Amino acid sequence: MPNLLVVGAQWGDEGKGRVVDHLARDASHAIRFGGGANAGHTLVVDGRRVVLHLIPAGALQPGCRGLIGQGCVADPLALCGELDGLAAAGIPHQPDRIGVSPLTFVVTPFHRALDRATGAAIGTTGRGIGPCYADKVARRGLRLGELVDGAAADILATQRAHVAALRPELELPSVEEALASLQPAAQRLAPYLADVTGEIEAAMRRDEVLLFEGAQGAGLDLDFGSYPFVTSSHTGAGGVCNGVGLWVDLHRRVGVLKAYATRVGHGPFPTEDHGAAGDHIRAVGREVGATTGRPRRCGWLDLPALKAAVRWSGLTDLVVTKLDVLAGLDEIPVAVEHGPNGPRYQHFAGFGDITGARTWAELPAAAQALLTFIEASLSTPIALVTVGAERGAQIPLRPLP
Ligand code: GDP
Ligand code: IMO
Ligand code: MG
Repeated sequence: MPNLLVVGAQWGDEGKGRVVDHLARDASHAIRFGGGANAGHTLVVDGRRVVLHLIPAGALQPGCRGLIGQGCVADPLALCGELDGLAAAGIPHQPDRIGVSPLTFVVTPFHRALDRATGAAIGTTGRGIGPCYADKVARRGLRLGELVDGAAADILATQRAHVAALRPELELPSVEEALASLQPAAQRLAPYLADVTGEIEAAMRRDEVLLFEGAQGAGLDLDFGSYPFVTSSHTGAGGVCNGVGLWVDLHRRVGVLKAYATRVGHGPFPTEDHGAAGDHIRAVGREVGATTGRPRRCGWLDLPALKAAVRWSGLTDLVVTKLDVLAGLDEIPVAVEHGPNGPRYQHFAGFGDITGARTWAELPAAAQALLTFIEASLSTPIALVTVGAERGAQIPLRPLP
């Protein structure tokens, strides 16, 4: 059975959550392999909006168990808050539905404080992600299993001393205070600790469909993205094996892209539209960050950047989301190359309301022409087009998995 990868092909917020939710109907496990609660994945289920941050979006499908792999970073307080949110929404969230690797690194109050003090230059989400990964790389990271076992005070003291040396002006909690806030959350998470690598291995032996659920997107990858305006994890196919702890053959590699482009935070965005069309997209597409509530910067498809994303994760399939948001525009620019004076655009004809379309034939010719052009330019087939946020508002073009 195929292992499926779903990754963002732009700067995050492409609609990965809703695509994963759809694909998870056939999967036994949905596995996050990187990032943390900087992600915000929105699903609309029976008219209700659910936002997931670290818990895999696939876990909302009854037959799919959500796993958080060792490549992720977990803030125990935030994770408990997310479990509470699911409980309040009546969504099953018990340890038989969700598991987290004890090897996951813990986001501590020191990481959050440092991110809040230094993250503005990049426009981070303030969730402590960069400082947590930095401590991991500097070999003073704290693993969730160690926190649950109570062996955390020395490591927390080292982390605290590091942040205090960097930023003496910050008011940091004491190690005892940090432990007092983290320990109850860690104890609550203890039943969720799971041998993620072993579970994946066993599921592969049983020939089940595994869904590897990306967060963020190509342009935010630590190595591949627009450094330093990136997140601190590996967001593409390359992040999977390290992030889950074993070799995984990814048979279908699905890249999710919006029919336009957005970016939150700072960094280059050559096709950004600062005019009325950009405002229109932001309003119609409700382009406001699901994690931080920041307005997203809006602009046009960037085919050269997408071609690089296709190569980087070896994408076998594309999903184009939010095509409905372009309805009503007179013309739709698509960047086809970058020159010394900025992007060169090819302009496509606009189209009207497509929210009711469920087949290719029901799409207006202008929308078909845009999709055909994207597919041909990226030499990669489009498997699915979405035309609304709710489950089922989509046009399947090619079977997945
Ligand atoms: P993710 O981080 O990649 O999972 O994406 P987000 O959830 O942060 O942002 C995507 C937003 O677009 C969410 O609010 C979704 O509910 C919404 N959305 C997803 N697909 C569609 C679509 O086809 N049409 C419209 N209008 N909204 C969509
Ligand atoms: P999903 O999974 C959009 C951006 C931040 C900032 C940069 C670094 O919902 O697509 P960080 O807090 O990670 O150190 O911030 O990365 N960023 C995202 N932008 N969607 C995301 O996740 C993001 N996760 C991080 O805005 O520019
Ligand atoms: Mg998001």
